[in-house]
Amino acid sequence: MGKEIITSKDLHLYYGKKEALKGIDLSINQGEITAMIGPSGCGKSTYLRCLNRMNDLIPDVTITGSVVYKGKDIYGPKTDTVDLRKEIGMVFQQPNPFPFSIYENIIYGLKLKGETDKQVFDQVVEESLKAASVWEDVKDKLHQSALSLSGGQQQRVCIARVLAVNPEIILLDEPTSALDPISSGKIENTLLELKEKYTMIMVTHNMSQASRISDKTAFFLNGDLIEFNDTKEIFLNPSKKETEDYISGRFG
Ligand SMILES: Nc1ncnc2c1ncn2[C@@H]1O[C@H](COP(=O)(O)OP(=O)(O)OP(=O)(O)O)[C@@H](O)[C@H]1O
Ligand SMILES: [Mg+2]
Repeated sequence: MGKEIITSKDLHLYYGKKEALKGIDLSINQGEITAMIGPSGCGKSTYLRCLNRMNDLIPDVTITGSVVYKGKDIYGPKTDTVDLRKEIGMVFQQPNPFPFSIYENIIYGLKLKGETDKQVFDQVVEESLKAASVWEDVKDKLHQSALSLSGGQQQRVCIARVLAVNPEIILLDEPTSALDPISSGKIENTLLELKEKYTMIMVTHNMSQASRISDKTAFFLNGDLIEFNDTKEIFLNPSKKETEDYISGRFG
């Protein structure tokens, strides 16, 4: 049994009057990869965004219940959401590098923190790009626009940008669905390497990807968490009929 790092209790989220999360109780262990699966519109992205308060940015959202991270409710009044999003970083479906150089992308968060030392920048740029397995691709063009890279390289630069601020948890919302199989495979390998140091929670529609790289799998349906267990159990021996139907491709 791992140690839990982030836990939601009776988490409800409403977009206006529409209830998109219907009381989610879920505990994520440190150092594990947790996959979130389920049909389109079941609330996976919504849930993921609750974990670093990205839903705060959407108007007319109401959230009840709690998300406890390192012993504190992140929805409590003392949370600094900018700091929170450094500790709990996010990678999106579409690679979204900023429209400036690779180097500037990576040091962006450090600059916001007030860092000015060029030696620190150089070191973090190299370490982060290496950790995201994209250093060899970009080391000779660090000052070129990140937008000049391929989609897969851009996505790995986005992962490196998250790593540069030293997060605890990385949220990934379908990080490979916009990429070709080779680039996807590279990202999967990168995530497996990062598992030593980070906790990752990843939404995916790709069942074989979930079974290849995750330790735990959470199956969502219509705003409910239907089943959460070791990935092996979910895929080989699901306890709920809905889970079995979904993973065997009978719906969604
Ligand atoms: N910004 C928003 N405003 C209003 N409703 C929203 C918003 N974002 C999501 N929803 C609704 O909340 C529900 C859950 O959406 P969510 O994006 O979390 O699903 P998902 O499981 O990530 O789907 P997909 O697999 O297609 O990405 C859907 O019914 C969706 O229409
Ligand atoms: Mg989604």
